[in-house]
Amino acid sequence: MSAVPVQIVIFGASGDLTAKKLVPALAGLARRGEPPEGFQLIGVARRHLSDAQFRQDLRDAQPPEGLDAFDAFAPRIHYCSGDVRSPGDLQRLAGKLDALPGGAAAGRLFYLSLMPDLFGPAVAGLAQAGLLESGPWRRVVLEKPFGRDLGSARALNQSLLGFLREEQIYRIDHYLGKETVQNLFAFRFNNTIFEPIWNRRHVELVQITVAESGGVEPGRADYYDRSGAMSDVLQNHMLQILAMVAMEPPSSLDPEEVRGQKVSVMKSLRFQGGAGQSVRARYRAGVVDGRPVEGYLDEGVPAGSTTETYVALRCGIENWRWSGVPFLLRHGKRMRQRFTEVKVQFRVPPITLADHVMGGEAPVLPDGTVCALRPNVLTLSIQPREALSLSFSVKSPGAGMVMVPAHLDFDYHDRFGSSTKPAYERLLLDAILGDPTLFLRADEVEAAWRFTDAVRATWSGPGAPPLLEYDPGGWGPEEAGALFQGCEGGWSRG
Ligand code: BG6
Repeated sequence: MSAVPVQIVIFGASGDLTAKKLVPALAGLARRGEPPEGFQLIGVARRHLSDAQFRQDLRDAQPPEGLDAFDAFAPRIHYCSGDVRSPGDLQRLAGKLDALPGGAAAGRLFYLSLMPDLFGPAVAGLAQAGLLESGPWRRVVLEKPFGRDLGSARALNQSLLGFLREEQIYRIDHYLGKETVQNLFAFRFNNTIFEPIWNRRHVELVQITVAESGGVEPGRADYYDRSGAMSDVLQNHMLQILAMVAMEPPSSLDPEEVRGQKVSVMKSLRFQGGAGQSVRARYRAGVVDGRPVEGYLDEGVPAGSTTETYVALRCGIENWRWSGVPFLLRHGKRMRQRFTEVKVQFRVPPITLADHVMGGEAPVLPDGTVCALRPNVLTLSIQPREALSLSFSVKSPGAGMVMVPAHLDFDYHDRFGSSTKPAYERLLLDAILGDPTLFLRADEVEAAWRFTDAVRATWSGPGAPPLLEYDPGGWGPEEAGALFQGCEGGWSRG
């Protein structure tokens, strides 16, 4: 536990992330008395504001149900106008920090919610201002995107390591703060019944979906058009989920053991390329629930944009556990429904002892249930439903051997009463306490970019998959169904 007072500095404090995610998370921590030593927050941005104005701006952005926690937390919020590239501004910030409880003897967390091009200069500036030395601890949290490709991520890692030790660097991926994502790991390694079948002998395929019903958010068109679905969500959130599903058990909960196992998975990820292994598309204009919706090209992106808002691909993990098992990943904006989910689909029995066969004419019960034999599927629902479900077949009462689908369900809300805590609350507390388990290591980010670059390399030149279009409010391009080639089933509909 951190035994000293804590000071948190957010650079980019006028942005949406601060008002909508970081401040509510910090207010939540303050309300729970975490950490016990307490903490002070200084927001830094270029606009000139008083502490009172800054607090008011933040307050205006809180939802009504968050106001009590915010008001109790507000006296600990301060503001310092400044540019992270200005040595004079950073000196002023240092003076303000020294005047807060704990002064230079406080632990300091610098949160960079900035354009990625500023990460390097910001850390260099903090170091030159003496803000990364002395004191009990100094840590820097970096928001995504961490680089644009392998080359830029590597260069950024090298420049950060010129001023910081790796253990001071906290590369955030907010998906790792989600309780249901952590449960992928906990569930696997604390229940023995799944371990013997969690491999290529018993698993036919794994599909992971991050579907969003919203389009590109206002003010994000510039950023999004440079990223696309692949870099914005698949490279980070989805590969983190995949790593949790596929990693080997670590020898302990030591952060380096856990992260080391995730890195091994990332390094074994393979994309075959070639026709039919990936599908990319963008949403066109349309009507959703009776309301007209703009197409991606009308969202304020540069004319002639070729950025994808949907990606689906088939990849594999070349190691002993997973060799030959397809991992199907799909992410899109403006889809029918918002849901994030993992489905682990097991192989069907080698011989069918039922009155119908897979793929044949299936009997239909009076209530409409189709008695098709289906593979067992373990569905891990990450959001908005937080649940687990295992499907299987049972014999329908009566003569003959007619199998019907059934499932076992577990729901976090039913079991624990309230919904889980926001991801940033957990991650900010871990960064304060110095636990990097749920943050990305340099080699992990680089391995994720290496895979992403391999996919994107197949998107130009001869044989590149075309950029398709799909209707908003639907399930994306039908062509993505072909990624199941040779396997049972199709894409989940939540
Ligand atoms: C962010 C992406 O990292 O994750 C957004 O930049 C995306 O484009 C968001 O919408 C999804 O996060 P969540 O927690 O709402 O699923």
